[in-house]
Amino acid sequence: MIIAIDGPAASGKGTLGKRLAEHFGFAHLDTGLLYRAVARVLLDRNVPLEDREAAAEVARTLDVSHLDDSRLRGAAMGEAASMVSAYQPVRDALLAFQRQFGTRAPGAVLDGRDIGTVVCPDAEVKLFITAAPEERARRRHLELQSRGEQAEYEAILADIRRRDERDMNRSTAPLKPAEDALTLDTTHLDADAAFRAALDLVERKRSSTAGR
Ligand code: CDP
Ligand code: CDP
Repeated sequence: MIIAIDGPAASGKGTLGKRLAEHFGFAHLDTGLLYRAVARVLLDRNVPLEDREAAAEVARTLDVSHLDDSRLRGAAMGEAASMVSAYQPVRDALLAFQRQFGTRAPGAVLDGRDIGTVVCPDAEVKLFITAAPEERARRRHLELQSRGEQAEYEAILADIRRRDERDMNRSTAPLKPAEDALTLDTTHLDADAAFRAALDLVERKRSSTAGR
């Protein structure tokens, strides 16, 4: 069983994915960390993010055992990840690991931008999580402040809008709901309410497809 979760930055995908995975006893992969890790390696080696060949090579040889590195979480790394993630060879190189993760027993939750459309098109449940950009910027602002990062609300909002724009309009695996995705707008839902609403959608989807 695979639960695919897609949506824009700070819509709550990661928080929701983690909670759904805990609830069902599934493995959870925040796929944004893979793109963040590629960007991190390039920056560490002083290689410009515009170097597609180098980015692809880093993606092909990426050590996925350090995805819990807190340095991957910052705002600058999200922006850098969004740049390298637009390169098709980078996406291709990260695909096999993600698909393999999806086969974990008894199930897996993957969250990102293209899980329901490209990585796991046959996932039993696909959720598309959204929220207004201002609300997402508010959440990210609070999150960065609590991590002790300097952050201006207006700058975060601009970053979120720029990233939405780039992720939705790129030619390779653009951010968009799969045709069979269930959309959940969390603008007015806190993390608990979003979890309950998502759980309800998952249960309903599972019972409607049970025995097929
Ligand atoms: O947490 P946040 O939504 O800010 O970012 P993330 O999920 O860590 O993703 C960072 C960037 O990686 C996104 O802006 C996307 O450009 C890219 N990404 C992607 O292209 N495909 C995925 N499955 C996950 C992330
Ligand atoms: O993974 P994604 O970038 O979509 O978002 P996240 O990292 O799960 O959530 C971003 C921040 O918003 C976290 O600090 C969450 O606790 C918070 N959040 C919230 O306030 N309300 C929600 N419904 C979901 C998340």
